Order: sequence, then C-alpha cells, then structure tokens
Amino acid sequence: MSKKTFYITTPIYYPSGKLHIGHSYTTVAADAMARYKRLQGYDVMFLTGTDEHGQKIQRVAAENNITPKQYVDNIVEGIKKLWDLMKITNDKFIRTTDDYHVAAVQKIFKALYDKGDIYKSEYEGWYCTPCESFWTETQLVDGNCPDCGRKVEKTREESYFFRLSKYQDRLIRHLEENPDFIQPASRRNEMINNFLKPGLEDLCVSRTSFNWGVPVSFDEKHVVYVWIDALSNYITALGYGSDNDENFNKFWPADVHLVGKEIVRFHTIIWPAMLMALELPLPKQVFGHGWLVLEGGKMSKSKGNVVDPVILVDKYGVDAIRYFLLREVPFGADGVFSNEALISRINSDLANDLGNLVSRTVAMINKYFNGSLPKERQSGDFDEDLKSVLGNLKSRTEELMDKLQFSTALAEIWKAVSRTNKYIDETMPWALAKDESNRARLAEVLYNLAESIRIVSVLIQPFMPETPLKIWEQLAISEEERTWESAGTWGVYSNKSPVKAGEVLFPRIDIAKELESLANMIPSGDSKQQEKAKESKAEEKVEGVQLIGIEDFGKVELRVVKVLSCEKVEKSDKLLKLIVKCGEEQRQVVSGIAQYYKPEELVGKKLILVANLKPAKLRGIESQGMILAAEESERLVLVTVDGDIADGAKVR
Ligand code: ME8
Ligand code: MG
Repeated sequence: MSKKTFYITTPIYYPSGKLHIGHSYTTVAADAMARYKRLQGYDVMFLTGTDEHGQKIQRVAAENNITPKQYVDNIVEGIKKLWDLMKITNDKFIRTTDDYHVAAVQKIFKALYDKGDIYKSEYEGWYCTPCESFWTETQLVDGNCPDCGRKVEKTREESYFFRLSKYQDRLIRHLEENPDFIQPASRRNEMINNFLKPGLEDLCVSRTSFNWGVPVSFDEKHVVYVWIDALSNYITALGYGSDNDENFNKFWPADVHLVGKEIVRFHTIIWPAMLMALELPLPKQVFGHGWLVLEGGKMSKSKGNVVDPVILVDKYGVDAIRYFLLREVPFGADGVFSNEALISRINSDLANDLGNLVSRTVAMINKYFNGSLPKERQSGDFDEDLKSVLGNLKSRTEELMDKLQFSTALAEIWKAVSRTNKYIDETMPWALAKDESNRARLAEVLYNLAESIRIVSVLIQPFMPETPLKIWEQLAISEEERTWESAGTWGVYSNKSPVKAGEVLFPRIDIAKELESLANMIPSGDSKQQEKAKESKAEEKVEGVQLIGIEDFGKVELRVVKVLSCEKVEKSDKLLKLIVKCGEEQRQVVSGIAQYYKPEELVGKKLILVANLKPAKLRGIESQGMILAAEESERLVLVTVDGDIADGAKVR
C-alpha cells in the first residue's frame, strides 16, 4: 500500500531585503509540521521558495544599478543559507524565475483566457506597490492603501482581467460548507463579512507599466500580475503544466498553506477562484498566523532588539530559537518579540527544566550505578502518576499538532518535564542512596527518570533538530528506542549501553550582561560607543560655533513621518504622545508640544523625526525618537515638509 501523503507550503518570500526573525516564524512552523508528519510515516512534500517578480523588485534593483535577476540571485542565496542554518527540511525550493514555473504560469494564463475567465479591458484605479495590490477609489482609506496605509499610485492602462466576480457565490458556499478551510475561525469570518459578502470585483491580472514579470504569451507587452504568478507556485512546483506531473497527482490538493494574516485574502479568495477556474480541487486548509512584532510596532533594527536570525542562531543555537518561536506565541495570534523574553525562555524552559533534568539523571545513574541500571528494580509511590502523564503525552501532543497548536503542544510537553522534575523531589534519590537496602527502589526511580526523558526526547524532534541527538547520546538510547511510535509506550528504554555525561544542553545565560552585549550590537541604540567616538575626536571650534563634518551629520537619521494618532499624556500639561508612521514601521513619540498644538490638529501632518535617537522614557512612556520643531521665546512650530512626499523618506 502506498504511504499517506502530506503537502505543506510556506508563502514564497519577496527577496527585497534581508529576512528578519519574523520571516523565520512561518518557515520554522512549517518545518516542525513537516518533520512531525514524516516521523508519523507520511510521505511529505514541504515547499518553500521566493517570489521574485514585480515592480518593487525591479525598482530596488534599479536603485542598486543591477539587473533584477542579479539582484534576486544574490538575496535568494542568503535566504537559502538562512534556511540551512535554521535546519529547514524543505523538499523543494521554488523560485518564480525558474523556467518551468514561468512556462507553467503562461499556460495557466492562456488556459483561463481561452476559457473566457480572463478578458481584456482597461484598468483605472490605484496601485499599492509595496503590497502589489490594486484598489478602487472607494476601497482606499484616507486616500491610502487599506492594507498598509501607504501611498497608492493612480494607474490607467490596458489590462487583462480575471472574472473573480463569477466565483463569488461558489466561494461563499465553499467557506460555509468547509468551516476548517480557513483557520483560525476569526479570519474566516473576516473574509466572509469584509470581502465576500460586499461583493467581488473582477481582478486586474496584467500590467504594462513595467516588465519584470512573466510575459503574457499571446500579448507580450503585458506581464502577469505578480500574485497570479506567485500563487501558482503551489502547483507549478509539483509539475503542474509541465511534462511531468507525477508529484502533482500525488500531492495536490495541499493539506495546508501556512500564511501570515495579511495575505489570507489572497489565499482564500483569489487562489481558490483561480483553482475553480482551472477546475482543480481546492487546498484543504489555509492557516493564517499572526505577526511577531516588537514592542511598539513592527520589526526593525533600530528598536533596540537584535532581530537578525543569523546572529540569534549563532549566539543561542538553532534549537533555542526554534523553540522560542513556536513556544512563545499561540500560533494564530500576534506576539511580541524581545531579546529579554527569548533569554528568559532559554533560561527557564531549556537550561533549567529540560537541561537540568537530563544532566541530573545522567549524573545520578553514573554516580550510583556506574552508568548501568540493574534489572532488579522496585516500584513505589509516585510512579503511577508519572507514568500516566508521560504515557499520554504522545497522543496529547499529536492532537495539538494536528491543529497546528505548536505552542500548546510544547506547553504540554514541558508540563511533563516539570512533572518529571517534581518526581525527583518526591522520591529523593540522594536519600535512597544512603541505604543499601534501597538499591532496587533507587534503580527504579532512575529508570523512570530516564524513560520519561526518552519519551520527551522523541516528541520534541519536530521542534528541535539537535537536542534529541544529544540526549540519545548521553542516555545511550538506541535507534529502536527513539521511533515516533515508541513514544506511546512506557518501558522501552533498555540502558543496554552505559549512560555517559556530555556537554550541558543549554548553558544558562546571564540576562543582564547578555542584554548589554546585544545592545552593543545595535548601531543606533549604542550610546556608549557613540560617546567613545565623541571623546576620541578632536573638536573643531570656530568663533564659538562647533563645526561638524558631513560624516557626523550623516550619523543623524532624519525621516519624514506621518502622524497617525495623537493624545495628551495624562497628568502632564506639556507632553503629547504621538503614533507616527515611517514607511514600513510605526513609532511612538512623546513630545513637549502640548502647549502649542492640540492633539487633533496633528493627525495626518507630515513631520520630521530623528529616527535613530536612543529611546527614552518620559513620564514612564517610551519615546522612540524626537520630532523636530523650531523655537522662539514664546513660540514653537513643528518642522513640516514642503510638498507631497511619502512618509519614511530620508531627510538630508
Ligand atoms: O507576502 N511576523 O511575501 P513577504 C510573522 N511574496 N510573519 C511575518 C513577519 C513577522 N514580523 N514578517 C513577515 C509575501 N512575515 C508574498 C507571498 S505567497 C504565494 C506570496 C511573513 O516576504 C508574512 O506574514 O512579504 C508572510 O506570510 C511571509 O512572511 C512572506 O512575506
Ligand atoms: Mg508582505
């Protein structure tokens, strides 16, 4: 009989810059799922890749004076290295610039055109380049992209359209009849109420204003809209539209598409409609997970946290980072990332709970029995409770993993680790060791500890690629004793070879020192280095005015920001708290301007922010930067920009 199959995908990433820890989140989650299914005996296809076409990439490449292909080649190499580093076990890596993908997308586009589901017309509307999204006038929010709030561009051109409207009723029916199609459920309701019920408009699916894309085969001045190109990857990677569609027949429909919440709409409306038009089955599930954010906004380096996954893995090891990503935040919800939370998790869960359990157990088996437990053993108090917790652990874990509840699955495993640690306190092996007559009881206690660790070590494999191997080495757990199935049975550990102490699994980290050393890695937050630099430079003074070189001025990062909201700081008559938008990110700024401006006057204004100022607390509220203002004795006016320019723009 052929094996059951499991097909899981991550989104394909835009290679438009360096990936941060937030990007690793989806891929690590998908990897844990793929490993888990393989361990269960499934034939797994785990797909990831890169989404390399579109106006955004063409622009960035031009800014760097290289061709788009040169530009993406370079970044994709870095992305592949990152996945190696994170021990990602994808079975395939698709690039949308791969020839077979381009050819298949052309076929798909032509098939839909021949069928009448794609037709030529004229497009007039608004385009958000960063999101690669089209919007109609009425969809805009304050004239900006309703998804990201950034500026949109007026577009008018001859275009091909996909008859999305034709599939509206079928889509609604599909969502209603398949409650698990979109997970978590909240995202499903959002799609039905906010997008499907108000009505779908036909979708513009080609562009003529740039050329970095898949050419429409029968009308070469058009390139295929990047989302049609990108979504198709899930089937072209399996060989759909090529000479060899063996994998397509074997793995399609996908079991789950894992995606971030902001792209659920593309995956649950546009993609299923495309598949309906192609008369192909729909994926079984689209899971929209939340974002990993930094306190006060989205990820960026200037926030005082190191978010570069390469640095983090280098410092703490891949298992610690993977554990943190999947343990800290319930999959589906947004979560806050901080270096402090990461280190606390490493210390408490990994160094303290698991690491100590393993090293104590190995040390005691060595000390009291020279590494090999005798066959004469005697059961006693507390054994039954321990066995029942560990005995049920595999089925509890599987139940949660099948729902992609990684965080709860890990919490459940760590409950068992805690139960095992408590067993040491209850049975007090060091006290038993004092009396020869307790040898058999002592042996049983230590056996039970080793057996509990064995079960845990098998079940953490999807999450942690390295730690189980180290545990197996130390406890001399043989291959038959570490199969996934064996985690469901108590008493498998044989201790055929003696245990041997090994390196500490997770060294404890001095949190204060570590945070300081991390802070030193962040250029903008690093006050000490800046001070040192100041001291070593001779100050040039002319007639009492201190002159600085252009390189000194260059250290100050000034940006145009747009005020999103503003309120008075409680119990202060001077301070206002502003939330400002600076391109991709948002900042909170506290400013002493309450006597000169009313909060509502400021909303929508474009101001200048000193963006790389070390964060400071004013009345206990963090200010992430400073707003520029001009001052006279009794007057203060904010510095604004003369002319229409996007927030995030650099001021020089
Ligand atoms: O959207 N926390 O690519 P992308 C959690 N090319 N997830 C995050 C994150 C964060 N801070 N930042 C990014 C695209 N992500 C398209 C996909 S699929 C046919 C095409 C996630 O590089 C984000 O939610 O902008 C998304 O799921 C993924 O990274 C890729 O984002
Ligand atoms: Mg995105």
